[in-house]
Amino acid sequence: MFKILKKEELSPGVFHYDVEAPRVAKKAKAGQFIVLRVNDEGERIPLTIADFDREKGTITLIFQVVGASTQALSQLEVGEAILDFVGPLGQPSEIHENMGTVVCIGGGIGVAPVYPIAKAMHEMGNKVISIMGARSKDILIFEDRMRAVSDEVLIATDDGSYGIKGFVTTALQQLVDRGEKIDQVTAIGPGIMMRSVAEATRPLGIKTIVSLNPVMVDGTGMCGGCRVQVGDEMKFACVDGPEFDGHLVDFNSLMSRGRMYRAQEAEAKDHVCNIGLGRK
Ligand code: NAD
Ligand code: FES
Repeated sequence: MFKILKKEELSPGVFHYDVEAPRVAKKAKAGQFIVLRVNDEGERIPLTIADFDREKGTITLIFQVVGASTQALSQLEVGEAILDFVGPLGQPSEIHENMGTVVCIGGGIGVAPVYPIAKAMHEMGNKVISIMGARSKDILIFEDRMRAVSDEVLIATDDGSYGIKGFVTTALQQLVDRGEKIDQVTAIGPGIMMRSVAEATRPLGIKTIVSLNPVMVDGTGMCGGCRVQVGDEMKFACVDGPEFDGHLVDFNSLMSRGRMYRAQEAEAKDHVCNIGLGRK
């Protein structure tokens, strides 16, 4: 069992948990994810590692309540435990010295998984410019953490309540317009955002990495649930990814597959709200 040591609701429906998982924390690297099961009635859900502390033996998860499993997870309190917690899974981000100037873009809750990547790139001595996007100021997360690992932070809000008014791509365009030489972009957030970032960098020839979170079932490359078209190849996000070349990902099929189970997710979430599955 994996005990919850810290719980905080960062904005409505978005939670920060620190989970006691020393063996996972010992091996975790930026870009990887875990698969958890809240209890024996729950389904397995993948969540990207938002931070890890090897000394304390903890993994930080940031998640948004979207379906039954995240609803059940959100009902656990500090001191209660998650039944299964498997990881770290997936390929770590490719991070090394002399990458030059990297722009780390996080949109909405996607700021959380981009944080350990920005941190590792910064620790390797690279210049990190971070772009954080949110619909409005009150739901922006991880600002202090991102500032601590970035040489510069640009914030964009859709409604203009903080920073630049516009999307993360508006902020990216400002960097390009001022003549910033960008060697790599790493973008994590909603599919539509990652697609827009990739379209913006394609004509500029800037290497662009995106992290995908399609539906996953086993998380071990056996079921094919997480398949994504990348160039001419079919890849499995759980074992080949979750990071891929953003210029090669077929975002249209990724997004339409992502929408397929939305109605069932909402229905199952309401059911969990009513019966309190997480508090078994
Ligand atoms: P959101 O819809 O609030 O968007 C966040 C930001 O993305 C916006 O503020 C904007 O800056 C940018 N954005 C949105 N549409 C854009 C467009 N058309 N062009 C350019 N930029 C655009 O985000 P949210 O509600 O926090 O996102 C939740 C979604 O993100 C979920 O679908 C979730 O599955 C996904 N997500 C993905 C990952 C991942 O690993 N890929 C991680 C976390 C969340
Ligand atoms: Fe089954 Fe990736 S989740 S193959």
